[in-house]
Amino acid sequence: MYPRLIFDLTKLRQNLDAVSKVTHEGGCSMMIVTKGVCADPKVVDLIISHPGVDFLADSRVKNLATYAGKARVAGKKTVLLRLPMLCEVDEVVKYADLSFNSELVTIAVLNEAAEKAGVVHNILLMIDLGDLREGIFFRDEDLIFNAVEEILKMKNIHLYGVGVNLTCYGAIIPKNDNLSQLVAIADKIRSRFHIELSMVSGGNSSSIYLLGGNDALAERQLPEGITNLRLGESFLLGNDTAYETKLPGTCSDTMVLEAQIIELKEKPSLPIGEPGVDAFGQKPVYEDRGVIKRAILGIGKQDAEPGSMTPTDPDVDILGASSDHLIVDVTRSKQEYKVGDTLTFTLGYGGMLKAATSPYVEKAYK
Ligand SMILES: Cc1ncc(COP(=O)(O)O)c(C=O)c1O
Repeated sequence: MYPRLIFDLTKLRQNLDAVSKVTHEGGCSMMIVTKGVCADPKVVDLIISHPGVDFLADSRVKNLATYAGKARVAGKKTVLLRLPMLCEVDEVVKYADLSFNSELVTIAVLNEAAEKAGVVHNILLMIDLGDLREGIFFRDEDLIFNAVEEILKMKNIHLYGVGVNLTCYGAIIPKNDNLSQLVAIADKIRSRFHIELSMVSGGNSSSIYLLGGNDALAERQLPEGITNLRLGESFLLGNDTAYETKLPGTCSDTMVLEAQIIELKEKPSLPIGEPGVDAFGQKPVYEDRGVIKRAILGIGKQDAEPGSMTPTDPDVDILGASSDHLIVDVTRSKQEYKVGDTLTFTLGYGGMLKAATSPYVEKAYK
């Protein structure tokens, strides 16, 4: 059935080998993030079976629930990346061995949930180094120390470490100087409270370039004291997301999306009549290409992100999409397409996320 997302498990394994080697040689543990493929079971099995993976992480507890049991049996820890919602604390302590937190009110409720479940729940205290998403702001040291003091009073919570997220929201690039501030905060917490911090998590796929040996950076600049990296896109698509280079030894075409042609007709390239707004309230801009051969594919914005898809046929252009239809120009193609043929696309992060999450997209493997 189409549309379908085909995962190449051999290429994904190759990417996992590549990021695992560089992460472990750089002295960090590796957390692999499964949300990009909506915790696809076969991809998760591949991750669980890889000896270099220490933690499996996701932003959604529902995804963690699908694999927590088998991950634990294999000796891997599960991690909730997004700050818990108060409505999900019981599931968090059940399915996540570690969760990321920045609010004392939530940590107190997690403490109660952990007590009720008879477990000690690990947390990572998130510090915001300026990307302005989650975390206690790094300049508010009193707030950080106060939070630690309160956490240490909670019997069913264990402060596992500190962490930062960069680039996803504010697009701030991890560097030696900003990550060194996280290491300094961790050191101050250790000496002030006389405690161990097992993890100083230095970010996501935008931090891996700092280990050096890649197109973005020849020499290592990751500060000593960063002990963990969390990797989604670098594993799934081979991307260094700081400078948009490719990581050595990885592939980008680890998955492709196939969709079927449901209409193929010659029509003008400019709509006729008074222009209003499209299905998404936008005023579209059209290029006059004269009369063109237009194919409509049975996939739309509900399942796909046209701006994050590249046709593998280099002579095909994506013109646009509505919820259920993707419209492409096949005029220049050397292929004689017909109704029922399929077109294949490689994907960027957004395209992957949408297709992997859509229940209308079949999943297949090779
Ligand atoms: C807190 C956190 N860590 C790590 C990741 C993984 O990011 P990336 O896919 O860029 O490696 C994400 C997002 O998926 C995240 O929100």
